[in-house]
Amino acid sequence: QRHLLGIEPLRPEEITTILDLADRYVALGRSRDKHAQSLAGLTQINMFFENSTRTQASFELAGKRLGADVMNMAMQASSIKKGETLIDTALTLNAMHPDLLVVRHPQSGAVDLLAQKVNCAVINAGDGRHEHPTQALLDALTIRRAKGRLHRLTIAICGDVAHSRVARSNLLLLHKMENRIRLVGPATLMPAGIDDFGAEVYDDMREGLRDADVVMMLRLQKERMDGGFIPSEREYYHRYGLDADKLSHAKDDAIVMHPGPMNRGVEIDGTIADDINRSVIQDQVEMGVAVRMAAMDLLARNLRANPKTLSA
Ligand code: CP
Repeated sequence: QRHLLGIEPLRPEEITTILDLADRYVALGRSRDKHAQSLAGLTQINMFFENSTRTQASFELAGKRLGADVMNMAMQASSIKKGETLIDTALTLNAMHPDLLVVRHPQSGAVDLLAQKVNCAVINAGDGRHEHPTQALLDALTIRRAKGRLHRLTIAICGDVAHSRVARSNLLLLHKMENRIRLVGPATLMPAGIDDFGAEVYDDMREGLRDADVVMMLRLQKERMDGGFIPSEREYYHRYGLDADKLSHAKDDAIVMHPGPMNRGVEIDGTIADDINRSVIQDQVEMGVAVRMAAMDLLARNLRANPKTLSA
């Protein structure tokens, strides 16, 4: 693949290739010398039009560990503020011959559009409600390492599914890898056309979590609920917040995941989030660096194998 814009176009064997390479980068990240040279001589520009802690930091670290020249565009201080369009901004940066653009944007489809206008590789770091492919890949790596496999697991994705690109990318990936997926949450927070996703839908947490191997919690994304129904946090926590009682319905060895940022006491109890016997939330962060190293390494190999696409 020239770009990584979503999980949708990836084949299961391509997903496995990324995860296998990421496993090697986990080992490198735990060693004293964390450097490799896969991106040496290449330029990576990170363009985040929406706030980020984990994704931006891990892409920067991943690029630096692989030897790239990494530039973080401060989009809040850019000429976007003077009315320059996304495409003009991208064309301007494209003229500086980057090899990799990492882009986060609040509008679904914006990153795909941008990828059509530039001649370097583009990675989607999250676009609106559409996709967040590297999040789904790091979640998959976390599950595979914790459970020893990435197929035939019962995985409950809980909460605000409607506004979540994380849920969408995870659904696509976990479905491709032949898992049983449950979407758990209030009907008001389920997307239209939910039946097309090949998942079971529950509005009761205890039923949805029954015998689950993986419990993946989602943030309540109030900033995307433009004028629609916004549940009260207290009521939401009572019915859908993950606490010890609700978690007791999952398997005894079920793992708890959350992509972050977390709202403790809204979608998850802080004690559960910090329970090192159940929660793999910090592992997800570690896997994020490794998966992003693997994704950029594979795109760079493709760039080098097809020099016409290498910015020169
Ligand atoms: N999970 C995730 O995308 O987190 P950030 O918004 O902090 O990057």
